[in-house]
Amino acid sequence: MDPLRQKLSTIAHGDHPIAAPLDESTVRHLLDLALPRGDERVLDLGCGEAAWLVRAAAERPGVRADGVDVNERALDRGRDHLASAGVDDRVTLHLEDATGYSASHQYDVVLCVGATHAFGGLLPTLEVARKHLAPGGTLIVGDGFWEKAPSPETLQVGFAEDEFMSLPNTVDQLALDQWIPVHGHISTLAEWDAYEWAWTGTLTRWALDHPGDPDSAEALRTAAQHRDEWLRGYRGTLGFLTTLLRQASRPEPQHTLFRH
Ligand SMILES: C[S@@+](CC[C@H](N)C(=O)[O-])C[C@H]1O[C@@H](n2cnc3c(N)ncnc32)[C@H](O)[C@@H]1O
Repeated sequence: MDPLRQKLSTIAHGDHPIAAPLDESTVRHLLDLALPRGDERVLDLGCGEAAWLVRAAAERPGVRADGVDVNERALDRGRDHLASAGVDDRVTLHLEDATGYSASHQYDVVLCVGATHAFGGLLPTLEVARKHLAPGGTLIVGDGFWEKAPSPETLQVGFAEDEFMSLPNTVDQLALDQWIPVHGHISTLAEWDAYEWAWTGTLTRWALDHPGDPDSAEALRTAAQHRDEWLRGYRGTLGFLTTLLRQASRPEPQHTLFRH
């Protein structure tokens, strides 16, 4: 993303730090389910402003975490949030491409919410996440699906028909890859609307409040275009599913009893 896009995206997320159509109570519930002990090691691939990690660590003093993102501005903001929450000594943010991230240990929980495009889609994301996940660990993955078949208007705003699948086919695909959904959240229309209004509204207010900023006109144009694409193109058509996934542990080796 070029520096101007990074700047506008960071401003747009000011009132809705979770960069996905999920409200605060949903995020807290998903974290409660994925981090039952409170001392988990967590990795967030495409962490943005580290909104998930701030919430994971602030309420669980034993949690240690890493977040990876290519958006420097979002990470700077994330570091501020972590410092304000007093958890910056336990959460490290890495400015690098998540596809190449490697660590010397595995994680109990791996997150990838709204960032599967970085890996080329859902299945390649699962493949990378699997390498980072310790045995018995939980993956939280959030991705789009088609609530209904995309209309010509949806495709016109830049989506490809094969970019997503229906909800049941999306879940089937997870299972084909040996993942077992242990919980899921389908974003409500109210969560989508809150997210999109926050994104477009925050950016618009910033542009109106900073008429002298050289990027003000572009911010206003970007917000108006985004709102139009959402309302005409994908509202009610694009869904968002966040699933908690685990893998079955390998069975213990069976000791064969030989009879003589
Ligand atoms: C929609 S945002 C989601 C942020 C965060 N997961 C959340 O739920 O708040 C997608 C994020 O993926 C990041 N991203 C895109 N490509 C990436 C890559 N190759 N490596 C790391 N991060 C990437 C973007 O910079 C952006 O912050």
